[in-house]
Parts: sequence; C-alpha cells; structure tokens
Amino acid sequence: MSDTDVFLRFEGVVAGYGGGDVLKGVDFDVSQGGVTCIVGPNGSGKSTLLKAVSGLVKPRLGQIWFKGRGLVGLTPKEILQLGVVQVPQQHSLFREMTVLENVELGAFLVKDKKVIQQRMEHVREVFPIVGERAKDKAGSLSGGQQRLVEFARCLMLDPELVVLDEPSMGLDPKTLRLVFETIRKMNAVGRTVLLVEQNARQALKMSHDGVVLENGTVRLRGTGSEVLNNPEIGALYLGGSIAPPSSGPNGPERMGHE
Ligand SMILES: Nc1ncnc2c1ncn2[C@@H]1O[C@H](COP(=O)(O)OP(=O)(O)OP(=O)(O)O)[C@@H](O)[C@H]1O
Ligand SMILES: [Mg+2]
Repeated sequence: MSDTDVFLRFEGVVAGYGGGDVLKGVDFDVSQGGVTCIVGPNGSGKSTLLKAVSGLVKPRLGQIWFKGRGLVGLTPKEILQLGVVQVPQQHSLFREMTVLENVELGAFLVKDKKVIQQRMEHVREVFPIVGERAKDKAGSLSGGQQRLVEFARCLMLDPELVVLDEPSMGLDPKTLRLVFETIRKMNAVGRTVLLVEQNARQALKMSHDGVVLENGTVRLRGTGSEVLNNPEIGALYLGGSIAPPSSGPNGPERMGHE
C-alpha cells in the first residue's frame, strides 16, 4: 500500500523530551473508519505517541503519515486544520467559562457562522448536556460530564480523526459506559478514533484494532479481540493469568513466568 492510501501510519517514530528517547521506533497503521486502541503499562509512551500525532511533541526520527501528508514538523494548528483533533489525558476545559463558551471555542478555526451554527446544533443533539448546562461554569461539572463536553468541543471542528487519551480516566462505571457509548457513536458517524485506555479490556472489546505499546515500541498488534485474547497480554495487562492458579504455589507472583 502506498503512503497516500493509508489513513494514518506511524513509521519508525522516535521521540522524547530531551533526556533520552521515549518512543524507540514505533510502526503501525490505523485504518480509516475504525476504532484503534493503544494499551500498555504506565510510562510506555502512549501519551507521547498521541502528542506526536497532534504536533505537541516533535519526533526526532521517523514520520507520521496522515492521508499521505507527513505530520512531523507541522504546527498543532496546521494539524487541527487537517482534521485531527485530540482530547488530552488531563481535563482541559476552561473551568471559569461556561459550558457553551467552552464548546464554542472548539470552532475557533471555523470562520463561517452558519457552519458553526449547524455544528452546534449537531453537537447539542449528540451531547444533551451542552444544552442542559449551557450557562453553568465548566468547573462545576463532574469529571464525566466534563469529558462529554470535551468531546463536544472536539466535534466542533468536524474532525476526521479523533484522538483520545484515556477518556475514561477517573470515571465511575456508569459514566464510563456512557463515555464508551459516546465514542462508539462518534465512530458510527464516520470518524476514525485512535484512543489510549487503561480500561484495556472494555476498550479493546469495542475496538476494531489493538496495539500494545511497551517501553516505546509495539509489542503486539492485531484486531481488538486478538489482543484481548492473547494469553500473554492478558496476563500482563488485563488481569488474566497464563498459568492456571492451581499449577503454582504462589499464584499471581508467577504470572508471566514459565
Ligand atoms: N513533558 C515531559 N517531560 C519529560 N519527560 C516526560 C514528559 N512527559 C512524559 N515524560 C516521560 O516520558 C515517559 C512516557 O510518558 P507517557 O506520558 O508517554 O507515558 P504513558 O504511556 O502515557 O503513561 P500513563 O499510562 O501513565 O499515562 C515517562 O517516563 C514520562 O516520565
Ligand atoms: Mg498517558
């Protein structure tokens, strides 16, 4: 497949923060129209990889192709203009501004008032909370509600690729289900989703593709269910176990060792 046919491609991506490389040569493709989920231990470079997509971290080597365009070296604004929007791991609403003002900010690159109006109507339909809490300060919402408003804000740019860094972080199980359901909906209307999740099991279940990142490289790549059902990965990241508990004297301590 030539570079222009592929939707998003990581090609030998090496990146860090000055004190050594965090990403040590990352290669994989993200197909258009799907949900791709990246899992991996803390510090393995998941957020760094997403920041590289958005232009917040500049890879030292390698390239990230988006529909045939190299993203490395573009500014975050140029990348937004190409239709790639990220919702970061930490909450990012302006707490002292209203919900509506925050969502409107998402359209800062859109000049056409009519387009902004149409998108606002769409976003209010998908996220009723935007209408219900329009005039409330964003800081007064719960963590889960803020997450939904962050999604709403990101949709104001009508992105082709939605990049989500641990969207379910810190949410109670009910809100977590709602957030996952919303991700499915965003995907169902044609948006490609690339997400990082600690709730690996649930996230992989709803993902077409899965990637396991370990120590800055791709340890495993497959469909969501292949990654989910890989026994070794299950033992390491999904709370499973390679050896049946009865086969060893100390149970969990033996996980991952033959
Ligand atoms: N701004 C920064 N400056 C220096 N080092 C950083 C910075 N951000 C992250 N790092 C380091 O880079 C490594 C990878 O961090 P990264 O945030 O990409 O991991 P992660 O897989 O997203 O982890 P987590 O699951 O905890 O979110 C870590 O060792 C981290 O300490
Ligand atoms: Mg992270």
